[in-house]
Amino acid sequence: MEPVPEPAALARIEALSARLDRPIALVGLMGAGKSTVGRRLAQMLGRSFIDADDAIEEAARLSVAEIFSEFGEAYFRDGERRVIARLIEENHGVIATGGGAFVDDETRALILDKAIAVWIDCDLATLVERTGRRDHRPLLRDGDPEEILGRLLRERAPYYRQAPVRVEGRKGPHTRTAWAIIEGIEQWLQ
Ligand code: S3P
Repeated sequence: MEPVPEPAALARIEALSARLDRPIALVGLMGAGKSTVGRRLAQMLGRSFIDADDAIEEAARLSVAEIFSEFGEAYFRDGERRVIARLIEENHGVIATGGGAFVDDETRALILDKAIAVWIDCDLATLVERTGRRDHRPLLRDGDPEEILGRLLRERAPYYRQAPVRVEGRKGPHTRTAWAIIEGIEQWLQ
């Protein structure tokens, strides 16, 4: 069971939700928990949640893996940029972005300009464990996932670090990470 927020916490969540004039965009590596935490966070804030990869798959009528294999990564990144721009315009409460979105210069500039970027920073062992549960991620299919995720973490950290809010994607209840995001945004808005 996850803890039920106390009245004071609920008041804080409501106050923050009322101040949010742009979507919260979760960024970070595959397995960091962007979708699960994002869903929880949106629920706490009483706002809508959308997963950018799901929206891309819906628009393309293809899975992310199929887009990668049939058209290549550059094509996927173009579609990803357009879809994220649309989702920001639609003013969803929380958007979970794919792990490479914030590395693309234009997508990152868009998110930094029109959303509140939050980096869910997660240790390598947790990323490896979580991504190992399913086999749908094209970038982890060709090689040792631990080696690939370690390299991506080193390469992408300088970009993720540009997000104004950073939280640790701890193990344990998603509510705890969602709450850390709420606190991080509260501090950033001050
Ligand atoms: C990618 C991450 C995936 C998906 C695609 C590429 C990446 O999203 O967008 O497979 O470049 O890190 P998740 O981070 O939601 O797994």
